[in-house]
Amino acid sequence: MGLIFSGCQQEDEEFGNIENNALSELSLPGSPYNYANIDLPDHFLANEVRRIDNTPNNNRVTDAGATLGRVLFYDKLLSANNSISCASCHVQANGFADERALSLGFEGGETGRNSMGLANARYYDNGHFFWDERAGSLEEQVLMPIQDEVEMGLTLDELVSKIQAQEYYQPLFIEAFGDDDVTTIRIANSLAQFVRSMVSYESRFDEGLIAVGGNRNRDFPNFSQLENLGKDLFFSGRTQCSNCHETVVFSGDRARNNGLDARNVDLGLGGVTGNPRDNGRFKVNSVRNIDLTAPYMHDGRFETLEEVIGFYNGNIQNNPNLDQRLRGNNGNVRRMNLNGQERAALVAFLKTLTDENFISDVKYSNPFN
Ligand code: HEC
Ligand code: HEC
Repeated sequence: MGLIFSGCQQEDEEFGNIENNALSELSLPGSPYNYANIDLPDHFLANEVRRIDNTPNNNRVTDAGATLGRVLFYDKLLSANNSISCASCHVQANGFADERALSLGFEGGETGRNSMGLANARYYDNGHFFWDERAGSLEEQVLMPIQDEVEMGLTLDELVSKIQAQEYYQPLFIEAFGDDDVTTIRIANSLAQFVRSMVSYESRFDEGLIAVGGNRNRDFPNFSQLENLGKDLFFSGRTQCSNCHETVVFSGDRARNNGLDARNVDLGLGGVTGNPRDNGRFKVNSVRNIDLTAPYMHDGRFETLEEVIGFYNGNIQNNPNLDQRLRGNNGNVRRMNLNGQERAALVAFLKTLTDENFISDVKYSNPFN
């Protein structure tokens, strides 16, 4: 950050207080935080996880790129009336989701679906984004809320000229891309870098997995009996949870139908492809930090994890597109027959996926104050 923020070598010291037109101050560390070379545990370096990393070769995460992305992510200038930023609907304390079932846009209008948590968005097999997977890449996705009529309401031309007019962006673009040219591609690339840098890997589940040498079938020494029971159930054929929420990321490989609705009222992927067999299929994004991202599902219909488990246990709706994994041998809806203790165990297990370091890490926090 040599240009404005010179002279400081320590990461925790804040430099360069600059006013933006919302009259708040931007402060960034003297040398950028580490986004590019995170020290991931072995289980994140396994082939099955590397294989689902959707980082393109031409947009690897760099410290300077993600720093620019962080400023953009928190900058209310990205909305038509300077009232909201990405972070208005993606709150760090909530795993970068929103407490509201439907989020509020720049003029108070409601979004069509529930805001998604962003932890580990980097790891998704087919690299598609949004509940209905309508964005083919993260680079494509990040420009969509900015142009959305309800969410932020800008044209890309307006976006570029608003960013150009702010002098605090000049050095950030130079550091990230070599010169101060503001383009939509650079804005998209840096936002995508910041989102991809949001890797959550320090939950109690991770600590337990490391403690047993990576064998998730063993009881974790840092888990209660109930949590270990929940772990066993999550990875069991009886529930099938881990066959859709896969790998240590707990994300899927593609959009699937989990039987929320017998008539698939929200078409989901089917609304994008036009194929009726895709109706009611939705992205299986990571359930890490799930205890923080309530309410749940694409429409935020469930307030609690108990309700989610109650749904899987007894209320899955049969429909022609219901995933095979949620059908029993006879083709009907799978009956999990979980008793009260087993349901509580699954909830307890899901809560072990919370990562306190992730939600308090200053490198993901608001740089404006
Ligand atoms: C007004 C609220 C709002 C704002 C502002 C907003 N988002 Fe979102 N975001 C949502 C909602 C709602 C969804 C899910 C929408 C859907 O699937 O139809 C979403 C989905 C996403 C996803 C998809 C995650 C996945 O795993 O597929 C990403 C990434 C994302 N937003 C990033 C951003 C970025 C970056 C910005 C700022 C440029 C931003 N959002 C601004 C509400 C918002
Ligand atoms: C057939 C695949 C499949 C199986 C099996 C499955 N899920 Fe899901 N899960 C999904 C899909 C698809 C969604 C998103 C659905 C939507 O919002 O429309 C989802 C959503 C969720 C959510 C909410 C995510 C959020 O961000 O709101 C939780 C929690 C969850 N599942 C937990 C479980 C548990 C626990 C089990 C086992 C009892 C399980 N799932 C089994 C496919 C599956």
